[in-house]
Amino acid sequence: MCGIVGYVGRQNAVPIVLESLARLEYRGYDSAGIAVGSERGTRIFRRVGRVRDLEASLPKRLSGRTGIGHTRWATHGSVIEANAHPQTSADGRISVVHNGMIDNAAALRAELEAAGVAFASETDTEVIAQLIARARADTPEAAVLDALARVTGTYAVVVLDAQHPDRLVLARNGSPLIIGVGDHEMFVASDLSAIVRHTSSVVMLDDGELATVTADSFRTFTREESDTARTPTDVDLAVEGIELGDHAHFMHKEMHDQPAAVESVLRGRLDDRFGTARLDGLNLSARELREFRRVKILGCGSAYYVGQLGAGLIEELARVPADAEAASEFRYRNPIIEPDTLYIVVSQSGETADTAFAVREIKRKGGRVVGLVNVAGSSIAREVDGGLYLHAGPEVAVASTKALTNMAVAFALVALMLGRVRDLSFADGGRIVAGLRALPEQIGQILAEEQRIAEVAADLAAASSLFFVGRVQGYPVAREGAQKFKEISYRHAEAYPASELKHGPLALIDASLPTVAILPDDALLDRNRAAVQQIAARGGPVVAVTHPGVDVGIEGAPTVVVPKSEPELDPILMTIPLQLLAYHAAVTLGLDVDKPRNLAKSVTVE
Ligand code: F6R
Repeated sequence: MCGIVGYVGRQNAVPIVLESLARLEYRGYDSAGIAVGSERGTRIFRRVGRVRDLEASLPKRLSGRTGIGHTRWATHGSVIEANAHPQTSADGRISVVHNGMIDNAAALRAELEAAGVAFASETDTEVIAQLIARARADTPEAAVLDALARVTGTYAVVVLDAQHPDRLVLARNGSPLIIGVGDHEMFVASDLSAIVRHTSSVVMLDDGELATVTADSFRTFTREESDTARTPTDVDLAVEGIELGDHAHFMHKEMHDQPAAVESVLRGRLDDRFGTARLDGLNLSARELREFRRVKILGCGSAYYVGQLGAGLIEELARVPADAEAASEFRYRNPIIEPDTLYIVVSQSGETADTAFAVREIKRKGGRVVGLVNVAGSSIAREVDGGLYLHAGPEVAVASTKALTNMAVAFALVALMLGRVRDLSFADGGRIVAGLRALPEQIGQILAEEQRIAEVAADLAAASSLFFVGRVQGYPVAREGAQKFKEISYRHAEAYPASELKHGPLALIDASLPTVAILPDDALLDRNRAAVQQIAARGGPVVAVTHPGVDVGIEGAPTVVVPKSEPELDPILMTIPLQLLAYHAAVTLGLDVDKPRNLAKSVTVE
């Protein structure tokens, strides 16, 4: 999705803005642009394509002490250079980069056109630039306030006024914007990873907040122009987290980060003495936890599938009715919010618009909502009533891996704690604590099998369509496996509960349609085996993801063997080989693993 960067300081802004833009590439985009401000005026360059295409198109000696940059993911208007940001006012004085969507852009555009303003793009962002340029105001800040008073919708905007090249004016409403405080220089970005290389001292603007940033100072204020006097906080985001190291792709690195990531999400949260989890961040007392009669989990895409796994864990360990729903659907169906339901939202980025809207819908109706979020200080993390950080570290590849694993582990912690204030015995609690503690090493064992999994993946890559099947807790595992496969290999992959095959999809089975089957060594093994045998009997190739010592019952079927955990935790481990299958299928097909077509890392629009 769109990314914003900015710089004001004593250095040349151009290389800093370009480098920061490159750090946002992982979010997904289709065009990029830069505006460079100096006493000589503002110069703007835009390109459809990658940041390196933009860089190659710039004049050799381009320089200025102020700069703004943008990576665009088209919403208003097609992917053409004229629609890329920065957008400018007709007189060229005002340059704007913008994330979000202006709801009343069409009406404002019509009004401005009727007043004789000529538009050069189809974007809602240009409307903002034109409004600022026409504002009757003494300062750039007043002009921005004046323009934004007319606008409804979501935005993070950064404005460069050619008459005031010493400063940038920022405004946030529903889309993140961060100021990075340096030594006689200031950085601006929509995402921490763009500035973490330069400074760890940051101010995250709140919704409704604006700021003026110069080389030596920043001032934050409300729409009513009263100062909000924010002090910078120190963020702990290691630069190595966003460097590729020896890995060919970020997805590869992030899969291999998982043993350490799981250790981080568990750190300080396991309580051996009482066989439970300590999750103070939820802000819920034991009494409150006991009083909930239902749990409702909301997330989007893969986060929703992990939510389904989480709901199963909560039902198993705490015996509280729990279910998961796509947050993108939730707000549109006028949901019934109940006071005795615990709502849990789950998000890697903490910026997914659909999930954020679900939070607001729950809160508007008086519900209690906690969040399992990876990005500290993100919009969702700040809006929920409490929660757990996932501590997976920065995730750059569009296809999520380590954050999802940490979500599943976080759900196990929540389920354990909910269970222990109810009927889960000390012995069972202790068993889960020990199981959780063993996960990092077991994930390491699965990753060590990568070569063998890659061979299986190379065969699967040849198929144009695949099934993923699993039963009960194996079903969300299958859904996530299919999701990962389709998003990076562009192969049609569909998940079914193993029990549903005979009710329809079995008709599709033939030698050209392989099935990846989740076959844990549990009480349902016989039934699962029967389901895959039905597939094999119809000539369908089967790949079994299973446990040591399991006889899959199909001669010659390739198997991927996963170490055994506690039955409740087995599904967490079973998702890991499915990531590797998807990754190696995409590598076999020569695809852009980290930036799959049409997708963005953080989906900040509806
Ligand atoms: C799949 C994937 C997406 C995200 C979804 C939610 O690999 O990454 O399906 O899970 O867009 O994103 P977050 O977790 O940031 O809310």
